[in-house]
Amino acid sequence: MSRNVVIIGGGQKSGRMIADRFRDNGYTVRVLSHRDHPNSLSADFTDVNDVVRKFRQLVNDLDSIDIFLYNTNSHFGPGGSVDFKKNPDWYSPRQAVDRQSRLQEQWHKNMQFGMLLPNLLVLAALEKMNASSVGLFMTTFISYAHLDLDNPYTDLLSYKAVKSVQNHMMLAFAAHNDVGATFCSITPHYPYEDPEKLNVVIENVYQTIKNAGPESNGKFLEVFKLLS
Ligand SMILES: NC(=O)c1ccc[n+]([C@@H]2O[C@H](COP(=O)([O-])OP(=O)(O)OC[C@H]3O[C@@H](n4cnc5c(N)ncnc54)[C@H](OP(=O)(O)O)[C@@H]3O)[C@@H](O)[C@H]2O)c1
Repeated sequence: MSRNVVIIGGGQKSGRMIADRFRDNGYTVRVLSHRDHPNSLSADFTDVNDVVRKFRQLVNDLDSIDIFLYNTNSHFGPGGSVDFKKNPDWYSPRQAVDRQSRLQEQWHKNMQFGMLLPNLLVLAALEKMNASSVGLFMTTFISYAHLDLDNPYTDLLSYKAVKSVQNHMMLAFAAHNDVGATFCSITPHYPYEDPEKLNVVIENVYQTIKNAGPESNGKFLEVFKLLS
């Protein structure tokens, strides 16, 4: 019987490669994206209700969700791609009002994409999950390690913040979910500059997700360590 995989943010880059690997290996794969991509359903990630509605539409005909992966990364907030380093004016005292409104907007998007949506989507996914299902958050080791002072204090601030919350969300769902599903975080590093190495990492991530089971509950599956 085919196993069902649902990936949020699986329309491009590593998310798409992981989705393709599952498809190539006979899994039924459903992808929710913030943009139009082949083999995915798009939603407006700035609209919480639209995302949850589209998610329900995406999984409506599935009997179960065997693997649920939250892979979306918002790229918003201080330390994100829209960064104070690239927009130094935002951090000038003369721009205080503008800075306040921009930071509010950035943090709200970041918290929505990185915290609120994964929480709501896991709750919706649990309606189709069971004791052999696995929910995974794609996070990063710098959200629970490397928290020292060797970076400028804002470096990746908002990224680390939401990924840390996802890790805690993972621990909460691992401890309490009423269907007995497994929850874990997976922490990769994708060497996009080296396609050969990237292929090895993607295979490791695919195998790690595929093989996750009850023994993974509440764990950080540290794929980045496999390469070092
Ligand atoms: N790159 C690394 O070395 C690394 C290291 C540690 C952890 N990670 C984590 O691994 C995951 C994949 O990383 P990646 O580098 O391949 O891709 P990424 O650039 O971090 O983006 C992941 C996915 O998020 C979605 N996304 C991007 N911008 C968005 C926006 N503005 N609003 C809503 N969704 C957006 C996209 O999927 P759709 O287009 O399908 O919506 C994209 O494929 C991320 O969660 C990342 O934090 C990456």
